Amino acid sequence: MSAVAYEVDGEVAVLTVNYPPVNALSAATRTGLGEGIERAQADEAVKAIVILGGGKTFIAGADITEFGTEKSKAKPQLKDLQKMLENSPKLTIAAIHGTALGGGLELALTAHSRVAVASAKVGLPEVNLGILPGAGGTQRLPRLTGVEVGIDLITSGKHVPAAKALDLGVVDAIVDDVRTGAIAYAREALASGKTFVPVIERNEKITNVDPAVFAEARKTVGKKARGKIAPMVIIDCIEAACTRPAVEALAFEAEKFQELYASDQRGALMHYFFAERQARKIPGIPADIQPKPINSCAIIGAGTMGGGIAMSFANAGIPVTILDLSQEALDRGMGVVTKNYGISVSRGSMSQDKMDKALSLITPTTNYDDLAQCDIVIEAALERMDVKKEIFARLDKLMKPGAILATNTSYLSIDEIASATTRPGDVVGCHFFSPANVMKLLENVRSAVTSPETIVTVMEMGKRIGKVPVLAGSTEGFIGNRMLQYYTGEAEFLLEQGATPEQIDRVATRFGMAMGPLSMRDMAGMDMAAVSRKERSANMPAGERLSPILERLVAAGRCGQKTGKGYYRYEGREKFSDPETMEIIEGVAKEFGITRREFTDDEVEARLFAPLVNEGAKEIEDGTAIRASDIDVTWVNGYGFPVHRGGPMYWGEKYGLDKIYAMALEAEKRNGPRWAPGKLLERLAKEGKGWDAA
Ligand code: 3HC
Repeated sequence: MSAVAYEVDGEVAVLTVNYPPVNALSAATRTGLGEGIERAQADEAVKAIVILGGGKTFIAGADITEFGTEKSKAKPQLKDLQKMLENSPKLTIAAIHGTALGGGLELALTAHSRVAVASAKVGLPEVNLGILPGAGGTQRLPRLTGVEVGIDLITSGKHVPAAKALDLGVVDAIVDDVRTGAIAYAREALASGKTFVPVIERNEKITNVDPAVFAEARKTVGKKARGKIAPMVIIDCIEAACTRPAVEALAFEAEKFQELYASDQRGALMHYFFAERQARKIPGIPADIQPKPINSCAIIGAGTMGGGIAMSFANAGIPVTILDLSQEALDRGMGVVTKNYGISVSRGSMSQDKMDKALSLITPTTNYDDLAQCDIVIEAALERMDVKKEIFARLDKLMKPGAILATNTSYLSIDEIASATTRPGDVVGCHFFSPANVMKLLENVRSAVTSPETIVTVMEMGKRIGKVPVLAGSTEGFIGNRMLQYYTGEAEFLLEQGATPEQIDRVATRFGMAMGPLSMRDMAGMDMAAVSRKERSANMPAGERLSPILERLVAAGRCGQKTGKGYYRYEGREKFSDPETMEIIEGVAKEFGITRREFTDDEVEARLFAPLVNEGAKEIEDGTAIRASDIDVTWVNGYGFPVHRGGPMYWGEKYGLDKIYAMALEAEKRNGPRWAPGKLLERLAKEGKGWDAA
């Protein structure tokens, strides 16, 4: 059966793409479209051709699963179809519902006209895969939207709602029903004799563009790109659209597409794309297990985390009841929530109307009884086991049967918390990251007895509230924080051995981290870290220690940004090197008999990131992480790991698991037994295999 259904409605041929799940431009789709267009051209009764998507969407882009395969080279190519539409003697119309993305939008941009339903979205998200819209997207879209908007849309990959797309001229009309609306639009256009100029010939918005526009874009986009190459190349292509004849600029775009396609970043970003989707798939859960409906949420604790979590649910339209013990604490918490929404409104990222709606969905209370009927309760109280167990024993008695009982703990045992209830199957960790209304990661944590239904519910819920959910097992620190201690720990040992805070942070940001590990410590504040490290230090295995640099800094009143000095000295937000920090570091090195030496940046880079990979491998080994790619998703969304490096485990595999293994052996000698390579890493390194063989 063809992937494209062909029907004729009077003088309009309707081509419907049926290639689930997203009607991607596979070889089968392209063949079906090519045949459909030819058939319509051959039928004298047909005067217009409408292309639409069957099921829930228009065409969401080229078929990524066919990239690099023979199928991707099969004829007709997307460009062949585009020529057929653009040069068609009969009127061609793209009728959009769901999403028209990437190659899907590029195909639509070669139709004579585009209509969309109000709920549709359009965009060129190729940048997220490390490539560019290589079928004329960088040439045609700016011809409709203007250059500055075009740069913004294509370098960000944003999805644009239909109403905005209409404003920008990307679509020509909004219709109520995609099929009947498009047919009616075609008939009207035929009747009026209206003519359409192909987008590629519309040059008004790309003529005489001030070169400063590109210089400025390179500055602002370059800052956000943090080492990603595709956004910068996209600007080059859009500039070419403005400065070269169309044929030449299209050829330039095609050449640049090939260059990006061959890049390591493309490999990493495509790995990440599939990793995020894979993370939602939990092996061993029967297919008939359905998520429970989550139509209301209760939150315990109106502090920073509780407030941020409440905002995440309210933003998704889910009513939230937020509890704190005193009216004062509640008022303070709601004040922060209101202020945060206000900032979004003043920045223009949220409308006042949306803010009012979100706030109206949040009900503060000091009365536990108000939570009882909620579908899920998320505890975000003090990070102490005795406090959590008391709360969960109370929730067990209070909450309606079947409610999910979740804790936002960042490292405590879910099994132990669940043991305080008579329904441990309903208990789960929902670890949000601060600021919870912004950070994408939702690390869901299962105990040994969390029910499959509870697991699928919190995974589904994560997606619904706009988070990227990952499932972890309940070992201390779960997936992310358990690894973090090795990254920051190694940074501190590097300081003792000769690196400087500036070098370590510079190398980390050069690598693409949102922030260096020591600047991160300064930002988070080090006095709290010192308290929690006291306990950890006391429980260290023999032959192991934490570097005392952090404690010495705190003792010198250097707690980080909040005290104006930490690893660095601060004037406002600006940071400066501080000789006093170096004195403290050198003092510690002396105390431990360490001769400080110079490190190359590459050495620092490998030393910082290799321990993440070793600990990640141990997590796969003991079941804390289901698969290596889940760890990548965790670190990209919760810890600022650069997505264009694919995540720490992907990076480690590319770097060489044999080298990571050798470095873990050295780290064991240098730092102690916890740094030793795990069995899985050892096996893969010795067998020369990757995570697929885990
Ligand atoms: N090709 C192949 N499969 C795709 C795909 C694509 N372009 N886009 C999505 N899928 C698959 C997903 O892998 C997933 O498969 P699975 O169920 O086996 O895991 C399934 O479709 C559903 O995807 P989501 O879980 O992401 O579903 P959502 O409803 O949340 O989102 C979407 C749908 C908005 C379309 C989202 O999938 C998306 O953003 N897709 C990528 C779109 C894209 O990047 N297009 C550009 C492709 S490159 C291109 O066109 C090159 C051209 O310029 C030449």
